[in-house]
Amino acid sequence: MANIYNSRPRVLSGIQPSGNLTIGNYLGALKQWVEVQRDYDCFYCVVDLHAITAGQDPVELRQKTRESAAMYIAAGIDPEVSTIFVQSHIPAHSELAWMLTCMAPLGWLQRMTQFKDKVGKQNQESIGAGLLNYPSLMAADILLYHADLVPVGDDQNQHLEFTRDLARRFNHLYGETFTLPSVMNPQAGARIMGLDNPTAKMSKSETSDNHAVFLLDDVSRARKKIMRAVTDSYRDIRFSDEPERAGVNNLLTIYQAIKDESREEIEGDFADKGYGDLKKAVAEAVVSTLEPLQARYNELMNEAGYLDSVLKLGREKASAVAEPTLKLAQDRMGFLAPS
Ligand code: TYM
Repeated sequence: MANIYNSRPRVLSGIQPSGNLTIGNYLGALKQWVEVQRDYDCFYCVVDLHAITAGQDPVELRQKTRESAAMYIAAGIDPEVSTIFVQSHIPAHSELAWMLTCMAPLGWLQRMTQFKDKVGKQNQESIGAGLLNYPSLMAADILLYHADLVPVGDDQNQHLEFTRDLARRFNHLYGETFTLPSVMNPQAGARIMGLDNPTAKMSKSETSDNHAVFLLDDVSRARKKIMRAVTDSYRDIRFSDEPERAGVNNLLTIYQAIKDESREEIEGDFADKGYGDLKKAVAEAVVSTLEPLQARYNELMNEAGYLDSVLKLGREKASAVAEPTLKLAQDRMGFLAPS
């Protein structure tokens, strides 16, 4: 499935360093990233330019950027196989994002559900315009690398559609330039819901105590959060789309995403069990994911210089791909090349 620009099919994805990563980020994104890294030429970035659309404390942003990169490695991304880099280290992202912003129809941007959700909660006078232009920057991230596949949770599918539409528009106006990427959602875990409110997506920016399991939660705390998860007053344990059964469905989904088993197998395993048993089993599955990840993360954060060397190499590898694509797009748009 490679395209005319790459000899190997390519993957690109990113996570915002805007808080502590959750099991939603892991099951929706990171776990897939690890699974595809031997089959694709993978680029994984820490999207700090996206994080500032929500306003960030400078000290915390720097810290979270390092932590996120370490978390990619701790989750199983091998820096010798995949390219790990920081978005703002590659100026081409900002440059192409501006070019795409200028040709992105305002109507398309205003129709993005994530934009509408975020703006709906805030005062128009105080929100930054970056929230509106967020998808153009995301399109730049993807198109600079001629990515064939983008592994994400399903909340990002509309942004991927937008990226494809924008690439098509650019190619139509200025000649064949960009590769049209495809979205890749995990079979299970494409949308993990909040433990306290299973009708809302689990989010790293939600502050209520029992909402999310963070990848760095102490395991006893993670267990407690799962044991307190909202369920319902039914008894049978099965996957269901009914809104009132969303809590149990979410626990089963977390379990399925970690165990990689079929729905039938899982429903069979819990056929004569109660909600307490289900919660215990989910808690054990989550803890068995967190423990090795946290051990590796702590090692990495204590290994002076290692993370910086990974990000330096990542920057070189990413720049070698992104720069020529930017030059091509600038040439197609009619910018005078510097002499
Ligand atoms: P972010 O940081 O909000 O989310 C990062 C990734 O985690 C997935 N995700 C979830 N998956 C399942 N259940 C959840 N509750 C859940 N919460 C988050 C998201 O779908 C995403 O895959 N806009 C992107 C960041 C980005 C990007 C890109 C992604 C910027 N440029 C280029 C791919 C390609 C985002 O949502 O970040």
